[in-house]
Amino acid sequence: MTAASSHNRPDIADLLAFYASVGVDEPLEDQPVNRFAEIVPKPMERAPTATPSGNTAAQQRSTTVSRPEAIDRANAPPVARAPSATVPDEAQAALARQLATTATTLDELRQHMAAFDGCNLKATAKNLVFADGNPEAAVMLVGEAPGRDEDIEGVPFVGRSGRLLDRMLAAIGLDRTSVYIANVIPWRPPGNRTPTPHETEICRPFIERQIELVNPKVLINLGGPSAKTLLNTSEGILRLRGNWRVHTTASGVAIPAMPTLHPAYLLRTPSHKKLAWRDLLEVKAKLRAIG
Ligand code: URA
Repeated sequence: MTAASSHNRPDIADLLAFYASVGVDEPLEDQPVNRFAEIVPKPMERAPTATPSGNTAAQQRSTTVSRPEAIDRANAPPVARAPSATVPDEAQAALARQLATTATTLDELRQHMAAFDGCNLKATAKNLVFADGNPEAAVMLVGEAPGRDEDIEGVPFVGRSGRLLDRMLAAIGLDRTSVYIANVIPWRPPGNRTPTPHETEICRPFIERQIELVNPKVLINLGGPSAKTLLNTSEGILRLRGNWRVHTTASGVAIPAMPTLHPAYLLRTPSHKKLAWRDLLEVKAKLRAIG
């Protein structure tokens, strides 16, 4: 690129930095797409004219590609496009419910989830992020969805917020041998975007069954999405946190649940760590009372 042309086009390093800053840190297709080609001015539109094929010139242009794209795509092998990230499909939610119900162990549940293709998030995720910790634990924590580090390792809460979570647990004498950790959504949403309500509904039977199979004495909901999904409420997390609620399993077991602030939120809002600390003291007292 010449010095003159670099004044007219965004610098590629700036573009990549912008993508990273908004969470776009993963290529979703094997072949890169030349976005610069899309900002080259298109030839001026002409009034529609009939062509020998019977199509107007505009119709013909829509079936052939404009010149910069033609140059790019001619050299690129065919690309299998990832499906769009949201497929509203009640049939998939029904299948998830059936698979979840028929799993009688955590291993079976993991296998059913690994074989399930009904949630589009799986298409862009590297790994199923099923769980970490001790399935016999009295305490189960449920977050929202895996991030980049969790997606790479296939283990929940191993990135920055996971390290904070470990410190929070240590403060009340717990660690990953004495808790079990999972997420509402087991596949990383691309670019860490918020899972759609449909994706949440499709994944909900799996986490509900996971809770039922672990059967913890206490559930901790990390953040609003976990609390809202598993406690059937639309209240915000700042209202919910600190107050005991109940998660009722499909078979009717009532599990005390403590909604608290998500570690990722606490990293952004450290002044609220004291609130999470109070919530964890409640959990500690409850565990002592339960014995
Ligand atoms: N945030 C979550 O909610 N879950 C993880 O596993 C990691 C970050």
